Amino acid sequence: MKIAILGAGAMGSGIAQVASTAGHKVVLCDIHDAALERSSKKLDKIMNRLVEKGRVTREKADNIIAGIQYTTKMEDFADCGLLIEAVVENLDIKKKIFKQLEVIMAPDAILATNTSSLSVASIAAACENAGRVIGIHFFNPAPLMKLVEIIPAIQTDTKVVEQARSLIDAWGKITVLAKDTPGFIVNRVARPFYGEALRIYEEGLSDPATIDWVMKELGGFRMGPFELMDYIGNDINYTVTETVFRSFWYDPRYKPSFTQKRLSEAGYLGRKSGKGYYDYSENAVKPEPNKDKILGEKILWRILVMLINEAADALYLNIASREDIDLAMTKGVNYPKGLLKWADEKGIQTCVDAMDALHHEYLEDRYRCSPLLRKMAREGECFF
Ligand SMILES: NC(=O)c1ccc[n+]([C@@H]2O[C@H](COP(=O)([O-])OP(=O)(O)OC[C@H]3O[C@@H](n4cnc5c(N)ncnc54)[C@H](O)[C@@H]3O)[C@@H](O)[C@H]2O)c1
Repeated sequence: MKIAILGAGAMGSGIAQVASTAGHKVVLCDIHDAALERSSKKLDKIMNRLVEKGRVTREKADNIIAGIQYTTKMEDFADCGLLIEAVVENLDIKKKIFKQLEVIMAPDAILATNTSSLSVASIAAACENAGRVIGIHFFNPAPLMKLVEIIPAIQTDTKVVEQARSLIDAWGKITVLAKDTPGFIVNRVARPFYGEALRIYEEGLSDPATIDWVMKELGGFRMGPFELMDYIGNDINYTVTETVFRSFWYDPRYKPSFTQKRLSEAGYLGRKSGKGYYDYSENAVKPEPNKDKILGEKILWRILVMLINEAADALYLNIASREDIDLAMTKGVNYPKGLLKWADEKGIQTCVDAMDALHHEYLEDRYRCSPLLRKMAREGECFF
């Protein structure tokens, strides 16, 4: 099957590489010639590096490169069986594009969007045949990140869900099925990793270097929340948080933080601007964490139980299966353990007690315990 990819930015280029590596012919389209040129040059560079490292043969690399056709005309998608759209995150633009694509593409072609934050239902609604529209959400960088969230809209045909999922599975990805709700699985469940860390910092309980040390050394996470926010970009991470917050009708659980907003406003975006929570200039001195283990365990547990609560609530609201929620967090954001498995190990009652203690202390809805955790504790159940 020939694959159509619209938008040759960070995501579209990465997805094109994945599809071509899986042996498909790919048509990559962008309105800007310069974007296509950048994308093609970047792919050459990546392939040269992979050949140097001995990860692929020169022949395979050349095939991957030759497998992608670059174009500025969407009409070149006519004989493709699957489209993955990865243009700017703007609903009006996406709707307009899907309307045009529906006419260009074959009637049985699947139309997928890589949107991170828009509802798939609203994009699908732009099409006469909304049943063939679905969300296929890759993570950045697409060639390296194993996880892909498959998001059927309420209009999507069951057959389309099955076809899309088995195709992406065949590309060597790990797919999880998520409900069409803000943040899907990963961007929803991961909110407290940033939000609670920021809250702990804002309360003056600890500083970024210490919280990062805690999450890595005591928690086993690959990166600390502040390092990770600096890596993602504080502007981007802030926008995701704000979008999720707004999309949930201002549920206080997802409330953004002024610390991050100010950093973003000041242009302290993280690694890409040379300064964020940390200073990335050449002679900068890295701040030392406070390695107090007792304080550390307290911080870790507060962030972890908030994450567990979020994961439990996602299950409670049928956003995904328990297996998929744990897979999403371990494969999508490299958590050391699935959050629901972690909850079982800690004990469900222990989680409920910790949430209730936070709620009692702050009297904020942000700290409300998931009804599922409470019910499970009452009935002596565990997730697995
Ligand atoms: N960057 C991420 O971490 C990430 C992760 C997952 C999903 N996404 C989603 O993927 C999509 C693309 O994100 P990105 O980071 O690759 O953006 P990007 O800005 O890097 O690339 C977007 C590309 O789309 C092109 N474009 C814009 N309008 C177009 C049109 N009408 N027709 C054809 N091409 C057009 C632009 O020229 C640009 O090259 C967004 O919906 C985003 O939410 C992003």
